[in-house]
Amino acid sequence: MRLMARRPEAIAERTIQDLVDGLCGVPAASFTRDAVLDEIGRTVLDPGSLRPYLFFRRSHYTRNLIHRNDLFEVIAIGWEPGQASAIHNHRGQECWMGVPIGRLEVRNYRLIEKDGAARTCRLQPSERYVIDPRHPAAVDPAEPIHAVLNLPEYAARAVSVHVYSRPFDSCEIYQLEQGRYYDVPLGYTSRFGVLCPGERAEADRAASAGRP
Ligand SMILES: [Fe+2]
Repeated sequence: MRLMARRPEAIAERTIQDLVDGLCGVPAASFTRDAVLDEIGRTVLDPGSLRPYLFFRRSHYTRNLIHRNDLFEVIAIGWEPGQASAIHNHRGQECWMGVPIGRLEVRNYRLIEKDGAARTCRLQPSERYVIDPRHPAAVDPAEPIHAVLNLPEYAARAVSVHVYSRPFDSCEIYQLEQGRYYDVPLGYTSRFGVLCPGERAEADRAASAGRP
């Protein structure tokens, strides 16, 4: 992923619904990388508007569906301090990411070798940077493999909002030490503000939904 360049004078605080409406207003034929970068790049999300979608688990980060159609999906991920994603890619799909609450470190990896038959790979760590409310990021098609971490020293919950186009239901996970990779299905903790069957969340789910 790469940090996005933004024109500071064009940035406005908007609710998550404003962002979804803005994305829904982009015609399918024009739903390009640049069009979405324009929507995300001029948005600082109002953290309070995310409150209905925020769930947290002490055991793992949560994936919370906000909007999904044929063209894109919008999800919020809730991260307790110390939680991190696996090293993963997005199967060639576009992904944009903002962090309206807290901050997250992104670690990129360069793919040195990949053997599709043996399911082995060799990765090399590359850049690291921080995403916070005023610094969103987008997947770099040239270097799409990354991990996302809410570092323990941040000592605060974080919430990231992701736009995926098109929606996808699995991704490739990479094991750096073992040099292997495999497919994993992706599920949701909640959909449209309602916990999915079999899921649960901490009681104070919205505790950090206010302004930081
Ligand atoms: Fe990602």
